Amino acid sequence: MRYAVLGTGIVGRTIAAKLAALGHEVAIGTRDPEATLARTGRDAMGNPPFAQWQAEHPQVRLATFADAVSSSDAVVNATSGAAALDALGLAGADNLDGKVVLDIANPLDFSGEGLPVLDPVNTDSLGERIQAAFPGARVVKTLNTMNSAVMVDPARVAGEHDVFVSGNDADAKKAVTELLVSIGWPERNIIDLGDITTARGTEMLLPIWLRLMNAVGHTDFNFHIQGARPTA
Ligand SMILES: NC(=O)c1ccc[n+]([C@@H]2O[C@H](COP(=O)([O-])OP(=O)(O)OC[C@H]3O[C@@H](n4cnc5c(N)ncnc54)[C@H](OP(=O)(O)O)[C@@H]3O)[C@@H](O)[C@H]2O)c1
Repeated sequence: MRYAVLGTGIVGRTIAAKLAALGHEVAIGTRDPEATLARTGRDAMGNPPFAQWQAEHPQVRLATFADAVSSSDAVVNATSGAAALDALGLAGADNLDGKVVLDIANPLDFSGEGLPVLDPVNTDSLGERIQAAFPGARVVKTLNTMNSAVMVDPARVAGEHDVFVSGNDADAKKAVTELLVSIGWPERNIIDLGDITTARGTEMLLPIWLRLMNAVGHTDFNFHIQGARPTA
């Protein structure tokens, strides 16, 4: 498959590297490739400059959002929640038409004091906003409830733990489920919550996720929903 991974932060890099390792053709999308490669300092999250990562992953092609998506079969949205609609707009609605858009972004607003808050929340979600803004895209919200290292290596967390999928298109959810299985997620740990409105629920796990991170002091943990599956 040809994947466009939108986002040059830690999530985009981690997913792009995993997809390339699985043998997919991967383009990683950014606003301005030259500017992204020219950055020399660590980003706001303390990640090394993109050029360093790119040198270690030459098989992943850096491209504009539009270029990455126009030459892809499927898209991963790993952009900042506040900028996701803008980034997908730059990718182009026509380029997104008919494609599975695996949405990992969380609508976290970092503008206030202390921990970020969700916007939208409760009666709306970023997943729904993306689906509404790009009706031709087949949006599937998933993987947004865990750290990026766990997304691509579920075995980092001992025992049973789960990943959720939300989306309106059954075939798109099936394709995403197959991708998750190929990444290493056991099918029994993939919970289909229903249509894209259920993304409200997984995005609203972020406030507890952030507080758990502070309480346990690391990010190698995940949610497990006991009783969600019939036991043998
Ligand atoms: N960190 C985690 O482990 C984790 C876990 C679950 C979910 N998430 C979610 O995954 C997403 C990615 O997180 P991240 O930490 O890897 O990256 P991030 O810093 O949240 O986002 C970086 C990306 O957003 C793009 N961007 C920023 N402002 C923009 C604008 N005004 N217009 C268009 N694009 C813009 C950047 O474009 P350029 O490349 O051009 O700079 C970059 O590609 C977030 O929504 C986050 O909430 C993160």
